[in-house]
Amino acid sequence: MNQTHIIIFGSINMDLVARTPSLPVPGETLLGYSFATVPGGKGANQAVAVARLDVPTVMVGRVGSDEFGQTLLIKLQVAGVDTSDVWVDDATPSGVAMIAVDDRSENQIIVIPGANGQVGAIDVDRVIQRLPDAAALLLQFEIPLPAVVAAAKAAHQAGVRVILDPAPARSDIPAALYSFVDIITPNAVEAAQLVGFPVNDPKTAAQAATVLQQRGVKTVVVKLGANGVFCATPEESFFVAAFPVEAVDTVAAGDAFNGGLAVALAEGLSIQQAITWGAATGALSATKAGAQSSLPDRATVEAFLKAKVF
Ligand code: RIB
Repeated sequence: MNQTHIIIFGSINMDLVARTPSLPVPGETLLGYSFATVPGGKGANQAVAVARLDVPTVMVGRVGSDEFGQTLLIKLQVAGVDTSDVWVDDATPSGVAMIAVDDRSENQIIVIPGANGQVGAIDVDRVIQRLPDAAALLLQFEIPLPAVVAAAKAAHQAGVRVILDPAPARSDIPAALYSFVDIITPNAVEAAQLVGFPVNDPKTAAQAATVLQQRGVKTVVVKLGANGVFCATPEESFFVAAFPVEAVDTVAAGDAFNGGLAVALAEGLSIQQAITWGAATGALSATKAGAQSSLPDRATVEAFLKAKVF
């Protein structure tokens, strides 16, 4: 590849993870099994996913000047992520996510944005400085929307591929954002939130993709979890089956998918091959506990693909 790095502009959280027999209903107190702090955040997870696949990775975002922030920065660096554009915000604590995972690997997540919520124009400028020669800009919705829109616009104007993971789900996306996005990767819940009707299978995913393409997105990739992936490009549409795995914890599986997808495209693979890479990276992530702790390295993904596909 003649482009050199992938930029991730997004959130960096410490995940506070409880394992429980079931997810609590309102008003219920549960006895859980265990508690762990695990580095996470959709942006940081995608950055670690890319770095573990051996592509130079630049993270742009914010942490607080607290113990979580220091740990989060170190973990990114150990994974090989360039953190020189992660700002340490003295005024706001690091973002945290309170996560419960039950015996069926279902989860509930509450994100308190903290420093991620302070991301703004200065951080967008840091993204812009890194755009020359970038292979892609990866975005999500755990930092303020105006910053996401401004970064997407700048990357689009610079000819850098924009991959948007519209997570967490929201329905107030400005119309202009769609036209800056090359690839949007909602899961079923997020796709439904974007288009306003239920999405739960390839047929409804295709209908959602049509709506999103009419709004200006070039390629729509709907992640249907264990039910596979539906993709519509300007030229074709197709379905890719999921890799069957024993899921332990699906937290960050979607982030892993986006990392694998972005790396494969940066290396010149077709969109169909790249979705297979994303599906493999996501499936492997679901077999391990935690967010960044679950993300596979390149050798593991390649061995998995060789055993399953060829
Ligand atoms: O996508 C998973 C991530 O969502 C977790 O790591 C948590 O931090 C939340 O941002």
